[in-house]
Amino acid sequence: MRKIYCIANWKMYKTAREATDYIEHLLPLIEDFKENIYLSVPYTSIAAASSFAKKTKIVIGAQNMNDAKEGAFTGEIAGLMLKEAGAYFVIIGHSERRSLFGETDEFIHKKVIRALQDDIQPILCVGETLEERNSGTMKKVLQRQISIALSNVPKSSSDKLILAYEPVWSIGTGKTATPKIIDEAHAFCREVISELFGKKGANGISIVYGGSVKVENVSEIMKGENVDGVLVGGASLDVREFAKIVHKCKK
Ligand code: PGA
Repeated sequence: MRKIYCIANWKMYKTAREATDYIEHLLPLIEDFKENIYLSVPYTSIAAASSFAKKTKIVIGAQNMNDAKEGAFTGEIAGLMLKEAGAYFVIIGHSERRSLFGETDEFIHKKVIRALQDDIQPILCVGETLEERNSGTMKKVLQRQISIALSNVPKSSSDKLILAYEPVWSIGTGKTATPKIIDEAHAFCREVISELFGKKGANGISIVYGGSVKVENVSEIMKGENVDGVLVGGASLDVREFAKIVHKCKK
């Protein structure tokens, strides 16, 4: 059985105070929930959120990091800084980072390696654009993104990884991929991972779906055999909405 994850991605929303208010409201709503609940919060909210969430089932993480251990990189943040602030995991290669901030597959690869070295769990995001899907290159794109990002990752680290399939055309657009499209894409991602880590390794890696996940569609999405959770952007900003999604994020 693979682990199930319900992951919120707050993007550039919520101050430290808003983050702790949110967690305070979320805790009583998720008391009986058994799976993993991850909140990816802005850098400045990590310390407050993680100390507030200590000894609870909520795990706090970041949305990005630099690939260097330290250095003269004005405005950047290192994995060890995130870890000391209380981040347990980090999202790497989100499509907004790739498209708005020019992050390449090679850069994302270096970040994955650094996160593993710094003992932060990487959540690697991959996904095709609408143009790539329509022109039939979706598989090629996923193959390239995954194999470059995860090259030279030791097999022994594969159990620390989470993969997120997020088709770019469904992020923040209200257009969710159908459960069939999602499950097929996840199965393909798992095939690519198995070329790197073997079948057994690939079978152990959780693959979550992201892109316009909401209360109304999460149960259908979770039915997919290869779907091991969800990564929720917009709908995670409202604590009640997210709590409802959490409760439906199960097998
Ligand atoms: P969305 O974002 O749920 O608002 O589509 C998902 C994401 O960017 O991870």
